[in-house]
Order: sequence, then structure tokens, then C-alpha cells
Amino acid sequence: MPFLLSSQNVFEYLINQGICSPEDKEQSQIELKPAKNFNLLITLPNSHKILIKQERHNQEGKTYGEFFNEWRVHDLCRQFPDLQKLLPYLSSALDFNPQHSIIVFNYLKNYQDLSEFYVKKSNFITQIATSLGTTLASIHKLTWNHQDYREFLHNYQGGLAEEIPNLTAGLERITPEIFSWVPVDGLKFFALYQRYDSLGKAIAQLNHTYKACCLTHNDLKLNNILLSLDWQQPNDSIVRIIDWENSNWGDPASDLGTLIGSYLQIWLDSMITSKTIALEESLRLATTPLEALQPSIASLAIAYLNHFPEILETSPEFLLRVVQFAGLALIETIQAKLQHQKSFGNSGICMLQVAKTLLCRPEQSIPTVFGMPALEITHRAVRSERVKE
Ligand SMILES: Nc1ncnc2c1ncn2[C@@H]1O[C@H](COP(=O)(O)OP(=O)(O)O)[C@@H](O)[C@H]1O
Ligand SMILES: [Mg+2]
Repeated sequence: MPFLLSSQNVFEYLINQGICSPEDKEQSQIELKPAKNFNLLITLPNSHKILIKQERHNQEGKTYGEFFNEWRVHDLCRQFPDLQKLLPYLSSALDFNPQHSIIVFNYLKNYQDLSEFYVKKSNFITQIATSLGTTLASIHKLTWNHQDYREFLHNYQGGLAEEIPNLTAGLERITPEIFSWVPVDGLKFFALYQRYDSLGKAIAQLNHTYKACCLTHNDLKLNNILLSLDWQQPNDSIVRIIDWENSNWGDPASDLGTLIGSYLQIWLDSMITSKTIALEESLRLATTPLEALQPSIASLAIAYLNHFPEILETSPEFLLRVVQFAGLALIETIQAKLQHQKSFGNSGICMLQVAKTLLCRPEQSIPTVFGMPALEITHRAVRSERVKE
């Protein structure tokens, strides 16, 4: 029988792990937080909050070890003195129990979800995107080409992780078996995807040039970013990147591209679609127009390149690959929607068209994504570099 946490036994567990004292129990509050995993939020008597996550067990009572990578990143940053400055940019993990797949965090109550902030405010303040670009660049740059960090991740408790992902996973040729699990809308997606021969080729090419060279998050969407409630005050951790379950030694263009894809999704999710409206018109009618997001996307990239200019020297194609990864992130969003909501529809078709343009014509897409040509992005990054000096 697996050990399962509940509001009944959580305190015994925390006391056993040395996180709480028996006196805390009577005056603490326990809340269940609905999420993919089993989450409990505990408010201790000193109003300190801790978040406890337990991975769900499958029918055989097993887990996939999703928190292992999260803990591994925290351990990496604690073990190497040069990386300790990254800790304020992460979620704050306190304890991990691999046997029962339980992880405990300090709940960052002075932070809010960045995606919710954007939905509520509908205001895309460039200062926030700039902080995000700087934070991500610091993580990539500080770990870049460090074989000791790479080996630490590889050898972590004997774990073995493939560095080069299979980017076309779930997109291979249709087989008869697919009809048994893919919803009708899913078949529509596959039919369209396969009609665009160039799309599969562009993804395969991106896979071919994948270069694992630093610590990467690998699920860098806006809902995995927390924003400080005091973001207007100058402060070191305006944003924190949480949910490191997929992290690995990877390609930095993939993280930046996924994040840009997540901004583009705000635009695509707000478009008005119908059978009688042409694609271009749907995109133009979006309630969050692309023009509202472009300054943030550009600020993100400029701040990133300003802090990590070396990446352009070794990978002159970096920005093009970032745009391609943004396209790939949109395809992954479509796949996730198919899996969870079983729907594709007109908005899915639009998203696939945009993804195809980004993947197959990245150079022509740069002005559309960033609102300025590539040269201006790199010039601005270098110019702010000089101002910094
Ligand atoms: N340390 C934390 N402090 C504050 N909120 C958190 C913290 N960790 C997670 N959250 C909240 O819980 C949500 C889900 O957490 P996350 O780690 O992204 O797990 P998953 O997406 O795998 O369920 C986040 O979007 C955020 O709102
Ligand atoms: Mg998450």
C-alpha cells in the first residue's frame, strides 16, 4: 500500500521530517489546493505558509517521480557556491521524500501567478518582461558549458536523463491504432499537420540542431512564473520560475522560445473565430491584439541577449531557433488541448497556421513576433550592454 498524505496525517508527516513541531499542530490551518497533484497548503501559527505536494499514484500504486527533477535543480544550486545566487529565482523547496513522492515548499505568499496577473490587468508592462529575460539569462549563462553541473545532473542519485528530446513525439505518421484513442477533432489535427510536409521537416531540423549546453526548465510557460507583489520596487527576485519537473541539461533557445510561445498564446486565445471569418481577420479581431504583446516579447528578448550576449557569438542562428521553438510550443499547446479537452476547432486551426509560419519561416516571422527586425533587437541588446558598463 502506498503512503498517501491527507489532512489527517499531514502533521505527523511534517513533524517526522523535522519541518514542524508538535505545538504547531493545534493552531495551524490546512487547505486543500486543487491541482494536477495532491496539494495541501498549511498556514502555521507565525503565519508562515508551506505547500506540500504529493504526486498522484497510478493504478499499480506507482508514481513517475515527477518531483525528482525539481529537487535535483535545488540541490544543484545549493551544492555549487557559484549557483547559490540562483536560489532566489526558483521556488523554495524545503524537503523531498522520493520514496513517497512528496515535496515540501515554502509557500511564496508575497507572489502571484504571472499569467493571472496578465489576465486581470490586461496590461503588458515591459518592466516585468525585462526582469523575466534577465532572470532566465542568468540561469542559462551561469550554467552554460559547465561540465561539472552537467555531470551532477546526470549522475544525480544514479538517475539517467536523455538530453536530446524527441521533438516530434506524438506527431509521427498516423497508424491504425491512433483511431482507437484520438478524438475526432484529433484526427482533423493530424490530417492538417500531415498535409504540411514542411512542418514535420522543420521540427526534425530543429531537433537535429538541438544543442544541450546549460540548465533548462523545459516547461517555461507563464503559468510557471510567479511575480512579486512588490514588483514595482527595485528588487532582486521580481519573478521566480517554479515547477522544474521537466528540467534538464538542454538548449537555451527552447526555454526562451517556449516563453514567447506562451505570450503569443494570450493573443491566439483571444481571437474571434467562426466558419465565415477568414484566418487573417480572426487574428486581427483578437481582443488582445498582437501589438499589445510585442513590446513585452521584444523586451524579454532584448534583456535576455543583453545579459547573455555570448550566446549570439556561438549561435548566430539563436533568434531564428527561438522563433521556431515558439512555434513548436504552440503545437504542444494544441496537443495538450486535444488530450484534455478533446477539441481542436477553428482556433486550433489558426494556432497551427501560426505555428507553421514560425517553424517554417522564422526569419520572416521575427518582425511579426517582436514588432521589430532582428538587427534592432540585437542592437538594442548591445546598446543597453554599453549603458550597463
Ligand atoms: N512555492 C510556491 N509559492 C506560491 N505558490 C506556488 C508555489 N508553488 C506552486 N504554487 C502555485 O501552485 C500552482 C501549481 O504549482 P506548480 O509547481 O506549477 O505545479 P503543477 O503545474 O505541476 O501542478 C502554481 O501555478 C502556483 O500558483
Ligand atoms: Mg505548473
